[in-house]
Parts: sequence; C-alpha cells; structure tokens
Amino acid sequence: MKNDTPVEHYLKDYQAPHFEVESVFLEFDLAPLNTQVTNTLKVKNLSQQPKMVLDGENVKLVSVFLDGRDLTAQCEQGKETLTIPTLGLDQFELKIETVIEPQNNTALEGLYRTSGNYCTQCEAEGFRKITYFFDRPDVLTLFTTKIIADKSENSVLLSNGNLIESGELADNRHYAVWQDPFKKPCYLFALVAGNLACVKEVYHSADGRDIDLRIYVEPKNIDKCEHAMDSLIKSMKWDEERFGLIYDLDIYMIVAVDDFNMGAMENKGLNVFNSKFVLAKPDTATDVDYEGIEAVIGHEYFHNWTGNRVTCRDWFQLTLKEGLTVFRDQEFTADMLSPAVKRIEDVKRLRTNQFPEDAGPMSHPIQPQSYIEMNNFYTMTVYEKGAEVVRLYHTLLGENGFRKGMDLYFSRHDGQAVTVEDFRNAMADANGVDLAQMHQWYLQSGTPILSVATDYDAGSKLFTLTLSQRIPKLEGGFKPMLIPVKMALFSEEGASLALNVAVEDRDNIVINGSEGLLKLTETTQKFSFEQVESNPIVSLLRGFSAPVILEYEQSNQDLAKLASFDSDSFVRWESMQTLALREIKRNISNYETGQNLQISDYFAQAFAGVLADSTIDKALKALTLTLPDLTYIGEQYQQMNVDAIYHVHRWLKQELATQYEGQFLTIYADLNKSEKVYRYQKEDIANRKLKNLCLQYLMLLPNQIQLGAEQFTQSSNMTDVLAALESLSHTDSLERQSCLNAFYDKWKEDTLVLDKWFSLQAGSHHLHSLSHVKELVEHKDFVYTNPNRVRSVLGVFGRLNMLGFHQASGEGYRFMAEQVIKLNRINPQVAARIVAPFTHWKRYDQQRQDMMKQALQQILESENLSKDVYEIVSKSLNAG
Ligand code: TRP
Ligand code: ZN
Repeated sequence: MKNDTPVEHYLKDYQAPHFEVESVFLEFDLAPLNTQVTNTLKVKNLSQQPKMVLDGENVKLVSVFLDGRDLTAQCEQGKETLTIPTLGLDQFELKIETVIEPQNNTALEGLYRTSGNYCTQCEAEGFRKITYFFDRPDVLTLFTTKIIADKSENSVLLSNGNLIESGELADNRHYAVWQDPFKKPCYLFALVAGNLACVKEVYHSADGRDIDLRIYVEPKNIDKCEHAMDSLIKSMKWDEERFGLIYDLDIYMIVAVDDFNMGAMENKGLNVFNSKFVLAKPDTATDVDYEGIEAVIGHEYFHNWTGNRVTCRDWFQLTLKEGLTVFRDQEFTADMLSPAVKRIEDVKRLRTNQFPEDAGPMSHPIQPQSYIEMNNFYTMTVYEKGAEVVRLYHTLLGENGFRKGMDLYFSRHDGQAVTVEDFRNAMADANGVDLAQMHQWYLQSGTPILSVATDYDAGSKLFTLTLSQRIPKLEGGFKPMLIPVKMALFSEEGASLALNVAVEDRDNIVINGSEGLLKLTETTQKFSFEQVESNPIVSLLRGFSAPVILEYEQSNQDLAKLASFDSDSFVRWESMQTLALREIKRNISNYETGQNLQISDYFAQAFAGVLADSTIDKALKALTLTLPDLTYIGEQYQQMNVDAIYHVHRWLKQELATQYEGQFLTIYADLNKSEKVYRYQKEDIANRKLKNLCLQYLMLLPNQIQLGAEQFTQSSNMTDVLAALESLSHTDSLERQSCLNAFYDKWKEDTLVLDKWFSLQAGSHHLHSLSHVKELVEHKDFVYTNPNRVRSVLGVFGRLNMLGFHQASGEGYRFMAEQVIKLNRINPQVAARIVAPFTHWKRYDQQRQDMMKQALQQILESENLSKDVYEIVSKSLNAG
C-alpha cells in the first residue's frame, strides 16, 4: 500500500450528532461530466459548536453560503471533509454548491451512469460522493429534490417521495421536483434519470388506499417485468397479513439497472435494483432466478418498515435492519413456496458461505466492533447469521410473542435511528421476559459448537441429554449463549415418544406436542426425561433451531432411521447429509493412504431408500440426494486436501450414478414428460429440480452425454436448458463446445443470459478451465466495469472452481491477483469481494499457503490500493 494507512472506526467511539438538519433541498443540473449539485440545508446547532464538519469525497467545491454570506474562503477542505464556521449561530441556512462527474464514476457509488442513464447508490457512505453532508444514519431529515436535465436523453426524472412539480425549460430541457414526506437518513436518498420504459399496477392497501406501483426498465426489457410486479404485490399483501404493516406513500417505484454493486437498494419509495433481480421470462430466467427475484423484491419492500421507518443509529447496527429483513424475506419465501425446502436451502447457504467466513481472518460478530471500509461489512455474517439470530427470538417467543415484540418495536421507535439493544428490549418487554443473555450472540464471533452426550438408564427409564457449548477461538473469553435446541425422541420403529420432563428441568424445557424446546444457557447443562420406555433415537436441532455446529456421534443406524422417518424435514435431510459426509471423509482417508475407495452398504441402502421413496416431496428428495458441496466438505478439515476432496466427491457421484443408473433414468423419463409450459409454481419447480438432479448424475456416465445434449436442444425454459448445459460444461465432449456455441449465438445480446454462459465456463470442472477463464476475460463481451459480468467469471472461478483456482502450479492465484489489482482501480467494492477466496489461505497445504500469501502480498504492495481491498488483504495477512 503506497498511500497512508486508512483509519479504523470503532463502535465504542460513537457520539450523538451535534447538529440537526430540519430539511434539505437538493438541486441537480445533470450532465455526464459536469453535474452541478446545489444543497440547501436548514441546520440547528444543538450545542453551540463553533464549526461543523461535513463529509464529502470526490466532489469539487464551488461555493458555500451561510444565511446568504459567502463563506467559501473561510471553509477548510480536507480529503474527505469540509469544515465550516458556524459564526456562533444556533440556527442557519447553508447553501453548498458542488460539481461531480457521474460519467467517470466506475465505482458505482454516489451518482453514476449505467446504460446511458443516471442513477445513485448511497448506502453505506456514498451520499458524500454527491454533496457535502452529515453522511451518517442518525441524521434524519426531510428531502426535496429538483432534477433538471436534457429532455431527449432523460424522459424520466425520479427521486424519493411524491412528484410535486414538473415543467419545461429552455434548450430542450425539463425538470421535476420530488418531495419525501418522511424523514430519512441520506443513505436512503435516490435519484434516477434517463430514457426508461415503465410497467404500472395499482395496489389496494389494507387501509383502503390505491398505491401506484411502477417498474422502470430499459425499453427492450419491458416484456420481462411481470414476475417482479407479481412479487411486489405478494410482498405488500404478505406484510399486511403477517405483520400488520402497510405501505405509507402513494407511489412505489423500482428501477432496474445493469451496472450495480449488489442485489438491490431500498431507497425510500424508489428502490434501485440490479436488473438480475427484476427481469425474467421463462426462456431467459431459471427457477433460481425467479425465486431470487421474489425474495429480493420482498426484501427491499420489507425494508420500508425494518430499515426505513425504523433505521440504524450507526453502521455497527447494520444487522438490526439486515438480519431482521432477511428473516422477514425468508419467512415470505417459505410462505410462498415450501417452508421445508426454504429452510434447508438457507442452512446450506449459511454453512457453505457464512461458516467459512466466521472461521477465517475476516470473522466478526453480527455487530462488528470496528471497520475500515463499511462496504466490507455487508457480509454473510451480518445478513444471514444476523437473520438466524432474529429467528432465535422467534423460536423462543413463538409466532405470537414475536409479533408482540415487533409491534412494540414499531410503536416505540417509528421515525428513529436505533440499536440492536432497542430491538432486544422491545422483544423482551412485550413478552415480559429477560433476554439479556441474547446479547452474547451480537458480541461473540465464530460458530458455536454444540456437543452432545446421551445417557439412558433402562432401570429408572430416565433419559438424559448433556449439552455443552463452546467457540474454539474464544477459549477463555467465551461466555455461554442462550441456545434454543428443538428435539424429539423416537422409538426404533419410528413412533414419536412422549416427553415427560423431570421436575428440575421444567423451567428449561418447553413442550409442544411431541417436540421439546431445550433452553441451553450454561456452558454445560443436563436435560432429563422420565418414563422413557426404551433407549430412544434422538432427533436434535430440529428445523436447525440455532446456527451452530452439532458435535454428536449418532450411530449410522440411527441416522439412517431418522433419514427415513423423522417428521422434521430438516433432520431427515441432515441425517442423510451426515451419512454422506462420513462416507466422503472415510474415502478421503482411503484416497490419502492409497487404499481402494468403497461405498458402504448402509449408505448405499439409505440412498436407494430415498431414491425409491415416492411419497417424499420431490424438491426434498432432490435436496436429500444431493451430496454435500465441495466447500462444505472442505469445512470439515483444518487443512483440506483439495485433490482428495475433489476426486472422492466426483468418484462417489459417479459410483452412485453407475449403481442406480436404471432408477435415475426412470425418474428422469417420468418427470421429463410431465409439464411443458413453464409455470413458476411449487410442484413444477420441484419436478424440474429432481429431474435435473437425475440428469446431473446420469451425465457423469459417458454413455449418457446425449441425454444432456437432447435436453439442451429440446427445452424451451431456461431452467432445463441451463441444467443441461451445466452438466455438459463439466464434460470433455464434442457436445460441450457445440452447445456452448449455440447458446452464445442465441443469447449474445441478452446481458443477463450471457452472464450464465460466462459463469458456466468459469465454474467448469474441465481440465483446462483456467486457460478457458483467461480467454474469457479477453472475450469481447467481457467488461470490467460491469459487476455482474466480473462476478460471473472471476467471482465464480475463485469461489467455486476448486480445481482451477487452486491449481498446484499457483497459476490460478497469480492470474486472480492480477485481476484484483486491475479491478481495484475500477471498482473497489467488487475487487474486495473477488479477493475473498484468498483470505482462507490457512485452510490449504503449505505450498498453496505460501503462494496464496504471496499473491496477497503482491496485491498489498500494488499502487493506489483502495480501503476496501486494503482492509481485507491486510487483515488476512496479519492473521498469519
Ligand atoms: N441495503 C441493501 C440491501 O440489503 C444492500 C446494499 C448495501 C447495497 N450497500 C449497497 C446495494 C451498495 C447496492 C450497493 O438490500
Ligand atoms: Zn437489506
């Protein structure tokens, strides 16, 4: 790093603001290289400060007037601040004029251009790239925004709130004035201008108002908005029904843009979306895309209450809005589709992405205590583990208790910027319970390990579970957390056993039918059940009731039984996963010691049992027959053997395909003839999921490659086309290249579909995938300024291509380091995400470790390193 070391910000240093902003009037005169921003603030000086310090970055200052007096010369400009004398006044009007260059803004933060349109992204600290302001979430104010622009290039002029005025100006220009009646922090500000087409609907709210719904897209995409609009309407209805929350403005707008750093942004009344989470038609989008759109539309909509009406005091409270809103969107998706499938998919995501993060050098609690670059803390931990922690309240308090807590939270804090403690207090007070211990979940990082011992005494018929908790890296400093553990007991035959709680445990166990909720609060704690007639099979951590790693040596027989009869679908699925994981681990040692690889009978039988079961839901069946992914297998080892993991995983899949080829073919053929017209509907999605899983297994057999090629040519929906093409992409067949070429020719004009073509090749297990990826970044359709395109090649390669990225020669590392250095100059946020796979260097063998650290060192020493990349790289090198 050739510049000064960036500063670190700490939660413990929080100070309430010294100024209040009563209102702000923003005027934008838009031009690609020279946008003038005039910012008029009504300020109250709350504690007689002689100076006020505003945030600003990359803005050219033109002038500052205070109550009409020109103070430009008296102001002090720092690199990221502007200091203005207050002249001893308690109250004044400040008028600041600045100039910015949206056309040159490739970081996509602040005001920038995408496909010839203007758009903004302010969260977390991007507003300061638009004008000087108090860029912190606890300064809330009323925004009025006037936009002036050339009319032919910007037929649409949008900002937050209601349109209060518009009109024509000289020189083919026009203007619009928007006013937001709700106070908000500046990170929720948005402006969009350009030539956009729009789809409209009207929503009749529960309180009898007609709300104008609009989705703005590039004209060529106007036929791809239907699913997004349906999703929005479903979200609005769901939030009314489940939480009693009604939308508060008369208009709700969504704008889809191609160049966007993340998924979407909840700006008040004017959401801006990555087009990936808006645009869909059956022939261009997969089931996963459709589900993603529904979830993200829901997520941003739900933010209107959890985030916007009640916002965060400071960025250390990010999980207050994100954890809660992810929990809400998870519940929404569960209610729209299948709760069981959704829960398993979320657990998979958490284990594959969040567990490694929490075990690595960037590990942080869901409430981080410090940051260098806030953008680096929009993490799986803050979002997904944060949602798990919100789910703990829900599990402990039940649906009604949770709802009471939410109601109290809104009635206490509407219009405020608050903390995670405020949320917890609302939950506790509404239910008259003490939840103080829950705070440990916010303070301690790392995934807790829950270890289990059982004891059955046939004489007294007493069954005892002993649960212990720990977080290895916090050894010593660890404080026990409140962990709700759902459980049930079964007989050998699969009958659920009555739970008779021993007297001394009545406070710690809540019984609900045949299910028990154990409240673990100590480091080690016993839970006893009486009158248990036989040694029971324990179904533990039902529904994944807490985000922990379970250490429980259950026998293979018990797991196989749970896999066949447990009434909890998570435990059913999990039991098969555990069996598969044991199978894989055993064979990894075989591989390492040069012994033969072998499938054990009990595993083959359990697998066959699921395959033959026609009563089980098809989506659950597909999930159960899916082997643990490579990352999750790697997670089981302090140091992973990349070659062994890859080899054994592939061998096992191929072995299963060979043994059960007939069964896979029958199921495939049966499902392949059913639905023809694409519908986004639970049963159809499940059909496609199981069918394509069968295809995946079958395509590992050289004689079945034709099957994929046929599906590729004959299907009309993208789910089936892409599944076929993905399976083909891992092969070394003639069909591989011809299908990839055909796909490219058909879709080269459609950015989102073309991303899929790039990412299949970047994630391919093909032997030459590294050289393919090197060619892909040279491809004429590869653009470094488009985050989706970059992620679909470099993001996928680093995260999912174990063979290519971790190639023993180190060539994958050297290539990626160069790419990160290049991206750092274009888009620091994206560069910081792409560098993440390097941070896990400790988990690989010595040679790979050395080469990965070398790559990190090379990045660290490169010129003009952004705070974003600096923070990740320096922290992960220091952890060694
Ligand atoms: N608040 C957004 C969400 O979770 C995410 C977000 C944060 C974001 N920072 C961003 C989106 C920067 C785009 C760019 O919904
Ligand atoms: Zn969010």
